[in-house]
Amino acid sequence: ATVPKFVTPLHKPPVAKPTPHPDYPANSYVEITMREAYHRFHRDFPLTKVWGYNGLYPGPTIEARKDKKLYVKYLNKLPKKHFLPVDRSLHGVGDSPEVRSVVHLHGANVNWESDGHPEAWYTQNYEYTGPKFKRKVHEYTNHQPATTLWYHDHTMAMTRLNVYAGLTGFYIIRDSLEDRLNLPKGDYEYPLLLQDKSFNEDGSLFYPDRPPEDAPFPIPTPFIPTIVPFFNGDLMVVNGKVWPYLDVEPRKYRFRILNGSNSSTYNIQLENEAPLYLIGTDGGFLETPVEVTFIELMPAERVDVIVDFSRFKGEKIKLINTLFDEDQPKRDIMQFRVTKPLKGKDTSEIPAKLAEMMELHDHHAHVIRKLPLSVGSDKYGRIMMMLDNKMYHDPCTEKPSMDSIEIWEFINATPIAHPMHIHLVQFKILDRQPFNLELYQESNGKILEFTGDPEPPRDFEKGWKDTVKAPSGMVTRVIMHWKEHTGNYIWHCHLLEHEDHDMMRPIKVIEDTH
Ligand code: C2O
Ligand code: CU
Repeated sequence: ATVPKFVTPLHKPPVAKPTPHPDYPANSYVEITMREAYHRFHRDFPLTKVWGYNGLYPGPTIEARKDKKLYVKYLNKLPKKHFLPVDRSLHGVGDSPEVRSVVHLHGANVNWESDGHPEAWYTQNYEYTGPKFKRKVHEYTNHQPATTLWYHDHTMAMTRLNVYAGLTGFYIIRDSLEDRLNLPKGDYEYPLLLQDKSFNEDGSLFYPDRPPEDAPFPIPTPFIPTIVPFFNGDLMVVNGKVWPYLDVEPRKYRFRILNGSNSSTYNIQLENEAPLYLIGTDGGFLETPVEVTFIELMPAERVDVIVDFSRFKGEKIKLINTLFDEDQPKRDIMQFRVTKPLKGKDTSEIPAKLAEMMELHDHHAHVIRKLPLSVGSDKYGRIMMMLDNKMYHDPCTEKPSMDSIEIWEFINATPIAHPMHIHLVQFKILDRQPFNLELYQESNGKILEFTGDPEPPRDFEKGWKDTVKAPSGMVTRVIMHWKEHTGNYIWHCHLLEHEDHDMMRPIKVIEDTH
């Protein structure tokens, strides 16, 4: 059956309310409970079982102020059985309880015990805990510029299922610089969580328990359920609604757009090619706004944009994904209808100057790490993507020392692009350079021959980033400063089907050694 588009209004997730607690200063402690709930995805759909923070999908938006501490306790009240197909062969977690959870604050500068490490999982009421579980209450110092972060499940070998079930929410940091910028706010500011999902006939969420039959290459299926190498849903879901619409006034709006999908990439554009004024990326504001008409977002990437609807009174404008053709349903993401009367004069601005930008230069780097991305296979013969030719549990090799500046070079020798994410830091993209992929593979990674000049980051990725597209056959170079916390973090591909299948590696930030 075809699903009618643009009949369900866009939903804005509610803001999480602080919980009074004797041990914490007023308004600095929040309790969020993960639970099973029923959610309306579309006007014509029955209620669908989801797992949500406070039973909500998306979870409540956590609002924080820069440098003001926030303590969050995420309680696990999930059932003991999963409702999506669990593959017990992954990451050697076979005999651990089926339903485990841990919450990672993506993009945060945070102590490692509060980061939400995949091995810091816990079960209902903390009955069982993973080897890296340290604390029930996460301490967020918010010591970083205003930006859009997101919190999501990060359980070892279960992230793809728990996030798909609904465990995702926004975490917004604001600061006084942002206050002074006079950007559209309140009713004129929306976070937009883009995800794609598939549904069974009865309205329940569908997630595959085996690889698709029409896969471009044969995929061994040693048992069922078995992990799939990627997942693309049939329908577009924005803030928990299938193909929603939003009625807007003819004025400026601010949208914080997050790709929270398991595997899908979006080339977003307004269908009339109206400008998107980009003001921020993953880690905060740009120096000056950049006018673009399209933005590519791989999983976990965010952009902060202003759209001015004042010239489009009476029009309906779709937000589209140009990776699909006009006749494909997933080309449409959502619809804006410029039908609301203007409530008052739009005094918000697209400021000429946003923030001071600190630069990190090549010659500042103390360490350069060459990190190949390659195709391997696991002991069941299933294809897997590997980092540095290692499995997750191989000994840690990325050990940056405090206060060092490092360049990481992602050498992608696989046939597809991967969104590479590093915990704890925000980095800058230096460049990307094409290399002879065949020669690299034939020589077992010994010969890296460049075939073109380095390309600078694209217009929409020049600011602070924590997730970067590493295209196939290119070396993607990023630079970062390890400056505040020591301890155990990770880096990984943010295609959730990859990270759950060993495309993840530990990081240990150690005390300053120079
Ligand atoms: Cu958004 Cu390690 O994750
Ligand atoms: Cu990947």
